[in-house]
Amino acid sequence: MTKHLKLGIAGLGTVGTGLIRLIAAHHDRLREATGKSVTVAAVSARDRSRDRGVDISSAQWFDNAVTLAQSEAIDVFVELIGGDEGIARDAVTAALQAGKHVVTANKALLAKHGAELAAMAEERNVTLAFEAAVAGGIPVIKTMREALAGNAVTRVYGILNGTCNYILTRMQDEGLPFEDVLKEAQQLGYAEADPTFDIGGHDAAHKLAILASIAFGTKVAFDKIDIEGIQSITPADIEAADKLGYRIKLLGVAVKTEAGIEQRVHPAMVTKHSAIAEVSGVTNCVAIDGDFVGNLILIGPGAGAAATASAVASDIGDIARGLRCAPFVKPARALEPCISAPREQHKGAYYVRLAVYDRPGAMAAIAARMAEQNVSLESIVQRRPGHEPHGAGMNTQAGRPTSVVLITHETTEAAIHAAMAAIKEDGKIAHAPKTIKIEQLD
Ligand code: HSE
Repeated sequence: MTKHLKLGIAGLGTVGTGLIRLIAAHHDRLREATGKSVTVAAVSARDRSRDRGVDISSAQWFDNAVTLAQSEAIDVFVELIGGDEGIARDAVTAALQAGKHVVTANKALLAKHGAELAAMAEERNVTLAFEAAVAGGIPVIKTMREALAGNAVTRVYGILNGTCNYILTRMQDEGLPFEDVLKEAQQLGYAEADPTFDIGGHDAAHKLAILASIAFGTKVAFDKIDIEGIQSITPADIEAADKLGYRIKLLGVAVKTEAGIEQRVHPAMVTKHSAIAEVSGVTNCVAIDGDFVGNLILIGPGAGAAATASAVASDIGDIARGLRCAPFVKPARALEPCISAPREQHKGAYYVRLAVYDRPGAMAAIAARMAEQNVSLESIVQRRPGHEPHGAGMNTQAGRPTSVVLITHETTEAAIHAAMAAIKEDGKIAHAPKTIKIEQLD
């Protein structure tokens, strides 16, 4: 006799309808692989009358996602609504309390309430799974949780936001300014109408918070992430980076250091020859450093109906097989608090771009300020005067500014901040300095 696994899907947007299509296309494949017939028993969305181009005629309709979550008609509640509060949180909580397995793609919910929901799932002895919440179709959670069980992870990092990577790729390839490419990304439907969440780094930070918890066995700590978006990156930075052998990428990085755990999202310089530098357009990439396996890199689609549905189906397949892991690898009660490394103690090399007034002694003064902070320089590139645009508040008596790009050897964030503050104070530069961290990849 065929065993059944009955799904209740809340949210019939891009991913929800993608999942319904996937189950229709691969019902038999899933049954053969898992031994269970996976069916969409019930659905819930805001508007019942809308034609979504998928057949939901055999599914029971619920106007309210919480009622669906508690329904006897389902075994698994699939939450594809989104949002860290409100109906999504209420429905996931209700499902767990009713003893249902939960599959969700909701990174914001997990980044904020992951530890509490994991504890709830464990108490009820049910699954809370969220492969689709991080990097869309890339099976990074399964890889870290299962395939890397025999490794201590020292760092996990990657390109976790396709919109930002698309923008930076187009800026690189076409020499276009940020604002123009952002408009293009919005027209293509990559960036949201309000793109702040993507370009400000918050979407990547939600994903990073989940990865860091799994990597280090710590409670999800979204509020401890240092977040900087890509809004301030200019074609001049991209061009300078290129000349020095780098690409600029928005990276999410979680790394264990002697001072604690660093969690940061920011534009970073990566060497042109690295695999991560080659990841272009909306593609995502997650790299993991394990103490036994070494460096692993997973590259793939980070968003989209089909790829995200594929990740949701992976979790459903595990539930159908009866595979159960603690949501964040360790039992929820064993997750440790995330002890953050102080930001100023970050160690690494830096790219610095300065609009320096073209006067005798200006460079010597800058070099002296760097030396005072024990910052050693690896390279200096000076462009012809006038390369920097005239900015508001520029001192026209001091000469036209010229673009000077410095690459430092390893130093600390504290030293770079102190050196930049002193350089600014000296009045030798026309605009605030631009600094970008260089991420060491090997
Ligand atoms: N907006 C995200 C991105 C996809 O651009 O990668 C969903 O997290």
